[in-house]
Amino acid sequence: MIVGTGHYLPDKVLTNADLEKMVDTSDEWITTRTGIKERRVAAPEETTSDFSAAAALSALECAGVEPTEVELIITGTINGDMKFPSTSVFVQQKIGNKKGVGFDVGAACCGFLYSLTVADALIGCGMFNNALVIGTELLTRVTDWDDRRTCVLFGDGSGAVYLEKSQGERGLLSSTLHSDGSLTHLLYYLGEGTKYPSSHKTIDNGYHFLRMDGREIFKYAVREMGNASAQAIEKAGLKPSDIDLVIPHQANIRIINALANRLGVDYDKVVVNIDKTGNTSSASIPIAMDQAHRSGRIVEGMNVLMTVFGGGLTWGAAVVKF
Ligand SMILES: CC(C)(COP(=O)(O)OP(=O)(O)OC[C@H]1O[C@@H](n2cnc3c(N)ncnc32)[C@H](O)[C@@H]1OP(=O)(O)O)[C@@H](O)C(=O)NCCC(=O)NCCS
Repeated sequence: MIVGTGHYLPDKVLTNADLEKMVDTSDEWITTRTGIKERRVAAPEETTSDFSAAAALSALECAGVEPTEVELIITGTINGDMKFPSTSVFVQQKIGNKKGVGFDVGAACCGFLYSLTVADALIGCGMFNNALVIGTELLTRVTDWDDRRTCVLFGDGSGAVYLEKSQGERGLLSSTLHSDGSLTHLLYYLGEGTKYPSSHKTIDNGYHFLRMDGREIFKYAVREMGNASAQAIEKAGLKPSDIDLVIPHQANIRIINALANRLGVDYDKVVVNIDKTGNTSSASIPIAMDQAHRSGRIVEGMNVLMTVFGGGLTWGAAVVKF
């Protein structure tokens, strides 16, 4: 069950007006097509594990638990500090933990939901008593600032939850995860792997930037998040009317609105922060969750539905009783 939540956003704000000076775009286009007004950008010296450690400490403080007590740390990220060691072991060091074990999960925007599911299963089978689950991306580090189709969309941030063994009805009620490897060409980062090891050529060809076919992904997003949400609600033994709050991946306000219509839930039950954060990938759900938790929108006993999609393509949904 989720005992504590936390998040971290860097100070620097990049507004649509700022982007108007960088590429051929407009506040009007970005706002109407995506719902984004501004996003946060990491300072040059900040790393994925700095963000993750800050969000983790905030979740632990919320739970009233000492960092030394954490047994498992899983970070969902596709853009860690380095190729290895994992970001989670840097987090372990930064929060002052020696007892635990850490590793990362790479599932693009779905990184947090996949990590939450893995952590819950490992606690459920008795291997660990508790876990920190973190979603963090600094996608602005792999953004092509000359590509107006992508550079207006992404922002940096981190969110975290602290989990313990489920008690009574509280806990992860269901999770449904999916991927389709025939759709890898829709969202990818070519460079720095075994296929295209770094060279002058990979830099000249821009393989160190994220690329996306947004229009094509849009179609899958609405359909598959809707299907996964219906599956997760059914698996949890609930009806759509039992869901108290929906936390969708914050990729596009039009996708969020279409999803709400499809699920038949009122807009006031849907958490939206995309106007302030942009798409923070795997950090998107846990940031929105912490904001909702701290503002009193999430209280104990609530059924919260999360749903997400991203590169892979990957997608999924889960229901948690707080
Ligand atoms: C990316 C996205 C916002 C683009 O919105 P869209 O309505 O699909 O827009 P299109 O890509 O069809 O582009 C429409 C036009 O706007 C132009 N355009 C694209 N980006 C622009 C920008 N930043 N400013 C101004 N015009 C822009 C395009 O060039 C195109 O012009 P054209 O018709 O002359 O070719 C939208 O498809 C989306 O959100 N997709 C989901 C992607 C996503 O969230 N992926 C992440 C998963 S984690």
